Amino acid sequence: MKPLRTAAVLGAGAVGRALLRALPRAGVRITARWTRSAGGPIPPLSSAEVIFLAVSDAAVAPLAADLMVRRGQLVAHLAGALDLGPLAAARRKGARTGSMHPLRAFTRGDEFRGAAAGIDGSDASARSQLSHLARRLGMTPLEAGGRSRALYHAAAVLAAGAQVALFAQAVRAFRKATRSSEPAARAALLPLALGALEKLRRQPPARAITGPAARGDTATISAHRKALPKDLVPLYDQLTEAMLEHAGRKRSRRRPQ
Ligand SMILES: NC(=O)c1ccc[n+]([C@@H]2O[C@H](COP(=O)([O-])OP(=O)(O)OC[C@H]3O[C@@H](n4cnc5c(N)ncnc54)[C@H](OP(=O)(O)O)[C@@H]3O)[C@@H](O)[C@H]2O)c1
Repeated sequence: MKPLRTAAVLGAGAVGRALLRALPRAGVRITARWTRSAGGPIPPLSSAEVIFLAVSDAAVAPLAADLMVRRGQLVAHLAGALDLGPLAAARRKGARTGSMHPLRAFTRGDEFRGAAAGIDGSDASARSQLSHLARRLGMTPLEAGGRSRALYHAAAVLAAGAQVALFAQAVRAFRKATRSSEPAARAALLPLALGALEKLRRQPPARAITGPAARGDTATISAHRKALPKDLVPLYDQLTEAMLEHAGRKRSRRRPQ
């Protein structure tokens, strides 16, 4: 396997900018860069061993179709939600294709280091080159391709966006109970949420779960169900079932009334 030494980065959003900062530090020379808003044409890409399409998911397929690629060149996207289908036009022109999806929400200044990376590739060399590059960027590569891609991405969404949505519902209930402002409720609940997740660094969910379900305290669960806004009860019930299951408590067919 030949390590990747040169790259082109198309797109300069959160991930494109992070790549432009991190690749040179990982020993990869940037031979071309482009972003739509700069207005110019895509520069020649032939000296890049890998072309990263760091653009919005919907722009990956049309951009791949526009590229002039050479045989054997690697064209990769960074989208967890996409398989290699949107890169098919580049593949038809003789390129190898792949994906290196950093399992991290990028905000200003975020780095790749410490994240896992879902790797896919049209062939073994594409997969091993992207895995090797992911390691050089400080990530832990995991193969995540083919038919399991949607399942892989659904898991990632449950771990990130779904946590935020759940937190938003907790804030809503907390505000109703305490009449606090949204920022105050968020600030009050955040250390609790971060602390619960922090435990997962050292323990599996079965040991990290706390609360009435973990203790098998059905009286408290009943009181919660009565107090919650009606529309939150089905979500609370499903999560209680999951907590009982993970905490190793027997699941009761009949929910506490
Ligand atoms: N952000 C994250 O946390 C994260 C994490 C993992 C993976 N990813 C993936 O990384 C990729 C890039 O995401 P991002 O967060 O960096 O996006 P972003 O910050 O929203 O930036 C999007 C980029 O795509 C370009 N773009 C949008 N539509 C385009 C089009 N039709 N043609 C050409 N360029 C177009 C934009 O160009 P202009 O602004 O110049 O118009 C901009 O450079 C996506 O596949 C995303 O799924 C993101």
